[in-house]
Amino acid sequence: MTYTFPPNFLWGVATASYQVEGAIQEGGRTPSIWDTFCEQTGTISDGSSGAVACDQYHRYIEDIELMQELGVGAYRMSISWSRIFPEYQGPVNDEGVQHYLRVLRALRSAGIKAVVTLYHWDLPQYLQDRGGWASRETAVAFAQYAQVLARAFGDLVDTWTTLNEPWCSAYLGYGNGMHAPGIRDYEQTLAAAHHLNLAHGLAVKAIRGVLGQNAKISVTLNLQVNRAASDKPEDIAAKQRADLFANEIWLGPMLEGRYDDKIMQATKEISDWGFVQQGDLEIIHQSLDNLGINYYSTAYVKQRHMSDSSEASRIAASHANPMPAQEYVEVLPPTGQLTAMGWNQEPEGLRDILVEMSQRYPGLALAVTENGSAWDDEVESGGSPFGGEIVHDPERVAYLDAHVRAVAEAIDLGAAVSGYFAWSLLDNFEWSLGYSKRFGIIRVDYENQERIWKDSGLRYREIARSNTV
Ligand code: FCB
Repeated sequence: MTYTFPPNFLWGVATASYQVEGAIQEGGRTPSIWDTFCEQTGTISDGSSGAVACDQYHRYIEDIELMQELGVGAYRMSISWSRIFPEYQGPVNDEGVQHYLRVLRALRSAGIKAVVTLYHWDLPQYLQDRGGWASRETAVAFAQYAQVLARAFGDLVDTWTTLNEPWCSAYLGYGNGMHAPGIRDYEQTLAAAHHLNLAHGLAVKAIRGVLGQNAKISVTLNLQVNRAASDKPEDIAAKQRADLFANEIWLGPMLEGRYDDKIMQATKEISDWGFVQQGDLEIIHQSLDNLGINYYSTAYVKQRHMSDSSEASRIAASHANPMPAQEYVEVLPPTGQLTAMGWNQEPEGLRDILVEMSQRYPGLALAVTENGSAWDDEVESGGSPFGGEIVHDPERVAYLDAHVRAVAEAIDLGAAVSGYFAWSLLDNFEWSLGYSKRFGIIRVDYENQERIWKDSGLRYREIARSNTV
C-alpha cells in the first residue's frame, strides 16, 4: 500500500560538523574535545580521527548538489563551536562565520532549508580545560555562542537546534568515557546533564533575544524506547528506572520545567544536586517549535538479580551502564537481524515514541532528526544511474522503507510529525568507531573523497521526490 505524506512534510538528510568537515586546522579553528580524544591511544577503534573526514569543509558545493539530486528539502548540519570562538573569551572568528555563511547561502540558492544544530558534541577544548559540561561556565559560554550565531546567520537558518543528544554528551562523555572527553565520574555526569539542560534554555532565550518569537527553535533528543522484558512489576520498574535517566532527565526540565524527584532520590549517594540553582528550571523550560527525535533501535530491559548484593558488586553493576543508578536494570542482548552496529531493528519503536510524545505534548511538532543503519557495504564497479560505481545495500533500503512506513503509521495515529532526516547523507566519522561503520545513503571513498551512490540513496530519492512510501 502506498502512503502519501502531508503536502509540506520535510524530507532531509543529516550530518554533524566533526563527522564530516575535516579541515581541523583551517579557517582559524582550534581543537575540540574530539581532536584531543582521538589523539589518545585506544579511544577510537580504528585509531582514526575527524581530521579529514569527508572533507565537507571544502566539498560542500558538491554535497549540496547531491542533496538536490536526492530531492530533499532540508539539510541538518551542525556548527563547530571552536571555528566561531577559537579562544577562551576571545573575539568571534570572522573566517569561521564566513565559512558557514557560504554554506548557508549555497543551501538557500539550492532551495534547501538549513536545520542547524549548535552543539553536536565538539566542545572547544579550552572549555573542557575549565571543566567542560560539568562546569556551569560552559552553559553561559554556550548562550553567548548562540547569540553570535543568531546575529550572524539570522534568517538563513530555518530551524535552530540547540543540542544534539545531550544523553550522549553527559553519559558517554562523563559516565562511561566512551566519548570525548572520556571521563568516568557519575557526579560530573549529573552536573553535565544539568548544565546541558541549562545551556539549552539559555540558548533558546539568546536566539529569541536576537530573532524574536519568529525564530523556529528545537532540541534533538535520542529518546530511548525501553521495553520491559515481561509484565512482571520488577521488570516494569526496571524500564521506568531506565526511562528516568534516559528520557525524563531531559523532557522533564525542558518541556515541563521540573526534574522528577525520583532522579534525585536515586542518585543521592552520588550527588546533592547543588549545581541546580534557583531559577534554573524556569530558564530551561522554554517554549519550543519542534522536538527532534533520533531513533535507531529499541532496548529490552529487566530487573537485574544480583547473586551477590555487596556494595562492590552493586557499584560494578551500576558502572556497566553509562547512566548512573542502573544497578537493577539489565539490558537484554538484542535479537533478530542486527545492523553492523549490533543494534536491533524495530520500526514499531519509532512509531510508538512518536505517538507517545505527540500525546504527551499536544501541539508540539515532532521531527525525526536522525534515523538510519550501518551495514558492511561493498562497492560494485558500474551500475550507478549517474555513471560509475554503486553500492547495493538491500538491508539499508529495507531498514529505510520500514522506518519511513513507521513514521507514516505514527502520522495516521495522530502524531504531529513534520519531517524525517536520514542519517546520514554520507558515510562519515562514527565517533569511537572511526570509519569502520558506514551509515551513509551515499558512500564516501576515503582514499579520494569520491561520493558513490548506494541503492538506499536512490530509494530515498524516490521517497523524497514522490512524498510517498
Ligand atoms: C547518533 C549521533 C550521530 C551518529 C548516529 C549513528 O547518536 O547523533 O552523530 O553518530 O548516532
